[in-house]
Amino acid sequence: MNAERSVILLKLGGGLLTDKNKPLSIREDVVKSAVNQIIDANEKIILIHGGGSFGHPLAKKYSISNGIDKTIPNQILGVAETHHAMVKFNSYLIEKFLENHNPVLSFQTSSLFTKDSEVILTKSLDVIEIALNLDIMPILYGDIILDKQGSFSIISGDQIILALCQNLNNYNISKVVFTMESDGLYIIDKDNSENCELVTECYSNELDRLNLADLGQKIDVTGGIKSKLNFIKTICKSKIPVQLLNGLIEGNIYKSLKNQNLNCTNILINE
Ligand code: IPE
Repeated sequence: MNAERSVILLKLGGGLLTDKNKPLSIREDVVKSAVNQIIDANEKIILIHGGGSFGHPLAKKYSISNGIDKTIPNQILGVAETHHAMVKFNSYLIEKFLENHNPVLSFQTSSLFTKDSEVILTKSLDVIEIALNLDIMPILYGDIILDKQGSFSIISGDQIILALCQNLNNYNISKVVFTMESDGLYIIDKDNSENCELVTECYSNELDRLNLADLGQKIDVTGGIKSKLNFIKTICKSKIPVQLLNGLIEGNIYKSLKNQNLNCTNILINE
């Protein structure tokens, strides 16, 4: 491994970029700001975005996460529609970067990864590394995933990140950044359960001891805060620090990419 080549994995949450109360709707101002901050930061990044109001409602409607079910009308068509909704959302983002003359390439998640029962199999990620070498920012997105057992399910942005952490060969991942609609992880005050306090810094081996508040209420077929925490713990096992931050606060994404201080949750690695 050539440790001099390092890259940041940045996940833009679907709930942040889209209006969850309205299927197939984009929060244009939020996207515009995120894109500008990423361009201004001018760092080597792999961008991953979630499904939000594009992926989740369709995935839920056709129960795609639970795999093939012949009793669900038009479920196979639903698989194709869910993927296509994600492609449309992804194209919107791609266009925003290209309008700003910033080279990006979309990689179809459902072609890079397959499943064999519960295990996600990763094809060669050489194409992503070549794009990075060319100063092209790769963009991946939560998607449907086909299963060797003749079924399908959903691959979330978090699962993509984990697969990248485990399978990139020639790039050292300096950190993983999750942008959300809250400042990070919150713990419930033990004396007053109405009160929540932001965890600003925490070692990965302390995560299990936190009495975490679950502030998410969106339609989420891929798991919510508990599942996110499990991903974070696994990412940290690869000795990669994780940052969770509020993407609605102007400048946060830029500050994170530039390693500047901000009000967020930093998950540190135990030596
Ligand atoms: C979900 O991806 C993708 C689909 C539902 C097709 P994520 O789980 O990463 O999406 P968000 O960030 O929670 O919206």
